[in-house]
Amino acid sequence: MKALRLHGYHGEQHISLDDVAAPTPGPDDVLVRVAAAAVNPLDAKLARGYFRDVFPLKLPYVVGTDLAGTVESVGARVTAFRPGDRVMARIEATMGGAFAECAVVPSWLVVPVPTQFGFEEAAAFGTIGGTAWQGLFEVAQINASTRLLVTGGAGGVGGMAVRLAASIGARVFATAHARGLEFAKRLGAERVFDAEGKLDLDDVDVVFDTAGGEGQHRLFDVIRDAGMLASIVQPPDGDMGRTRGIDARFVFHESNGSRFAVATNYCAAHQIKPSIDCVMPLEAGPEAIARVASGKARGKVVLQP
Ligand SMILES: NC(=O)c1ccc[n+]([C@@H]2O[C@H](COP(=O)([O-])OP(=O)(O)OC[C@H]3O[C@@H](n4cnc5c(N)ncnc54)[C@H](OP(=O)(O)O)[C@@H]3O)[C@@H](O)[C@H]2O)c1
Repeated sequence: MKALRLHGYHGEQHISLDDVAAPTPGPDDVLVRVAAAAVNPLDAKLARGYFRDVFPLKLPYVVGTDLAGTVESVGARVTAFRPGDRVMARIEATMGGAFAECAVVPSWLVVPVPTQFGFEEAAAFGTIGGTAWQGLFEVAQINASTRLLVTGGAGGVGGMAVRLAASIGARVFATAHARGLEFAKRLGAERVFDAEGKLDLDDVDVVFDTAGGEGQHRLFDVIRDAGMLASIVQPPDGDMGRTRGIDARFVFHESNGSRFAVATNYCAAHQIKPSIDCVMPLEAGPEAIARVASGKARGKVVLQP
């Protein structure tokens, strides 16, 4: 089968489309024939070696964490799925394997594709749906009375967070660059702020930071005493809000099949679907990853084997 593999930390342009043996599922695994796989900024970061000290990859590494497709076969102990089932998954980054014609996924990370989702939407949902759900509902525990600021509100995770929070009736504000302002508003933000301008806001309960950067420190100014700053991009400077009781923390998304199932079903029921920027063939993987890393994509970039 064909697979996009990383052979060293030389960047996405050195990822090659290789002929490899199809993986064999272990007793608790599901072998999925991949119909669609989605690209995340993480794929470029891994290819460029940003995390090689934190979690070194076993090279050659089949790139990709987010996929959807059809069950080809299951391991001896798997009873929840059978060949032909339409499934989706977010694989751990240390394992990878999604950018290929077939992928082995531990059965506890596999969930059925809801009828409301096509394969592209299902693949695109993986990381952004799981990260936004974990950050908002498990870490920040937002509810209908939460005043929430989402930075990067036009992006993959940020856009999903805006939609999820708006869907439960929370008051949602968002930052975006000029070209994303209208989009963030359409997703459900009550007010949007240009990333380059003044953040004219106060008394926010929670900031969900998906943009990071040097501007992160100014986010403390808009948070109420004892509020929360949860960033998925960089660990916040905890000292900045300590005297005001602000809980500032980094959120690392961990693949979790139970959460994924709940988030997927909720979004399907509420018509919350990821936006797709474009669909490209598997062999265009390096180009697709570069497009995501460049920030040019407006929605998820999806690969089709
Ligand atoms: N910790 C974790 O477990 C975890 C999980 C998922 C993602 N992440 C990280 O979180 C980040 C976002 O991921 P993503 O998938 O949502 O990426 P994305 O789809 O590329 O979205 C990022 C968004 O942020 C916007 N942006 C950039 N700088 C900004 C600023 N200063 N103010 C406001 N908006 C800004 C971008 O707008 P423009 O395109 O207009 O610049 C874009 O809309 C990435 O760094 C990713 O690696 C971490």
